[in-house]
Amino acid sequence: MGAQVHGTQQFDKTRRTEIKFGPLAMETVKTIISHYPEAKIKSALLPVLHIAQAEFGGWLSPEVMDYVASVLKIKPIEVFEVASFYSMYNLKPVGKCVLEVCQTSSCWLNGAEDIVKYIEKKLNIKVGETTKDGMFTLKVAECLGSCGTAPMLQCGASYHENLTYEKVDSLLEKYKSEGKQKNYTDLDYHNTL
Ligand code: FES
Repeated sequence: MGAQVHGTQQFDKTRRTEIKFGPLAMETVKTIISHYPEAKIKSALLPVLHIAQAEFGGWLSPEVMDYVASVLKIKPIEVFEVASFYSMYNLKPVGKCVLEVCQTSSCWLNGAEDIVKYIEKKLNIKVGETTKDGMFTLKVAECLGSCGTAPMLQCGASYHENLTYEKVDSLLEKYKSEGKQKNYTDLDYHNTL
């Protein structure tokens, strides 16, 4: 076990003007890197990208990805390939809450498509867009491993399962009134160490 990092509240969630990890994030990154032999440093990429996303405003700009590549001493294209493959990484600015509706078999069979349409109508956005107030971004994702409780969506570190229109209503209401960042900046990095 390395540095004790209990939740992302200790990370700076506002976008840094300088693209450089803050001291706590850098300490965490170094701990993660220390878990791998130098030749396998790329294995640290997923958790380091999560930390970068939390540090730099909830998304990974080309500059941030280049910075991560320099920290891990790998090629920028290697970072981009990974960041663009996984839906939990945002490659453009997102709202405070990123709603990712699973659209794979079990969820699809249980009404995911209708849930997506319902959210689109309710928030007046399409998949991939962010509401004008910057509160919500809607995305679709492939299986999120909660097939038994389909349909479901993920918002940051939270899963919302067995969705109905009513559940979606109260969920959006709750997130709006809380006004918290839930765009993967709310993950507990302690679990990555
Ligand atoms: S199919 Fe939706 S969580 Fe697996």
